[in-house]
Amino acid sequence: MNQPQVPSVSPSVPALIADQLKKSFRERDQENRRWRQVDAVSDISLTVSRREILGILGPNGSGKSTLIRLMATLLTPDQGHVAIFGHDVQQHRLAVRRLINRVSVEASFFKKLTAEENLAYATGLYGVPNRAAQVKAREILRRLGLPTRKLKVPMEQLSRGQQQKIAIARALLTSPTLMLLDEPTTGLDPKSRREVQQFILEVRATHDATIIICTHDMNEAERLCDRVAIMSRGRFEALGTVAELKSRYGSTLEEVFFALIGEPLGEAGEQEF
Ligand SMILES: Nc1ncnc2c1ncn2[C@@H]1O[C@H](COP(=O)(O)OP(=O)(O)OP(=O)(O)O)[C@@H](O)[C@H]1O
Ligand SMILES: [Mg+2]
Repeated sequence: MNQPQVPSVSPSVPALIADQLKKSFRERDQENRRWRQVDAVSDISLTVSRREILGILGPNGSGKSTLIRLMATLLTPDQGHVAIFGHDVQQHRLAVRRLINRVSVEASFFKKLTAEENLAYATGLYGVPNRAAQVKAREILRRLGLPTRKLKVPMEQLSRGQQQKIAIARALLTSPTLMLLDEPTTGLDPKSRREVQQFILEVRATHDATIIICTHDMNEAERLCDRVAIMSRGRFEALGTVAELKSRYGSTLEEVFFALIGEPLGEAGEQEF
């Protein structure tokens, strides 16, 4: 059987270029029954270099997951483009899917199948030799403190944190070139959180991986990220190294966050019509 090939990646192109990305949703206000437009992502342009770890911080509803989903081919932008290693996300959807891996809090699994079966499916999809991958997955899960017997039970019988660990193992064993991590450590216990952070740094060092990570954890952002974007109401309010942001907006990343976001915490831009 032919294994799927990972698409070619020219060494000179950036890992990701987003150009004036926009995505709005319509939602019905239940009280006055009017339609409301939610500008979840408004005009975001961004270049991410290879092997960079970019953090995205922002309050609930500020558009982080929508942005990740646009990058991951799961949503179509209303305007703008995203290219991943030079491949346009809309025109070359399948090629892009082989270059990325997304971990999110609502990890997608075949819930009736076991973790082992889900991992085997993923390795087939990415063309990774199955046996070596299973050994690697077990090693990752051992480090994350997941008992091996849990690999044999249906996913739906695992706790959220346990499922999250399997999603992380799945992402790591397929060695993607771009990892899109949407709150990968939310809901994990402190030891597992630290292990995952350590893995992220290792993957970057050993696999030439580029990582975009959404998080609400300021320490995590500081520990991992080369640059951090502060997102509010669908826009980047600031983007820079932690040192740059601190020199401009406050002495801690938390201070930077509140200086840029202000009070009360804003939701994505909403207009009624
Ligand atoms: N499929 C959808 N249909 C309608 N509205 C949506 C949809 N997905 C997201 N939204 C809206 O877009 C806005 C941004 O949501 P998004 O999930 O991107 O925020 P977030 O920054 O990831 O928040 P959180 O920190 O809570 O994960 C919210 O107002 C949300 O209600
Ligand atoms: Mg989110």
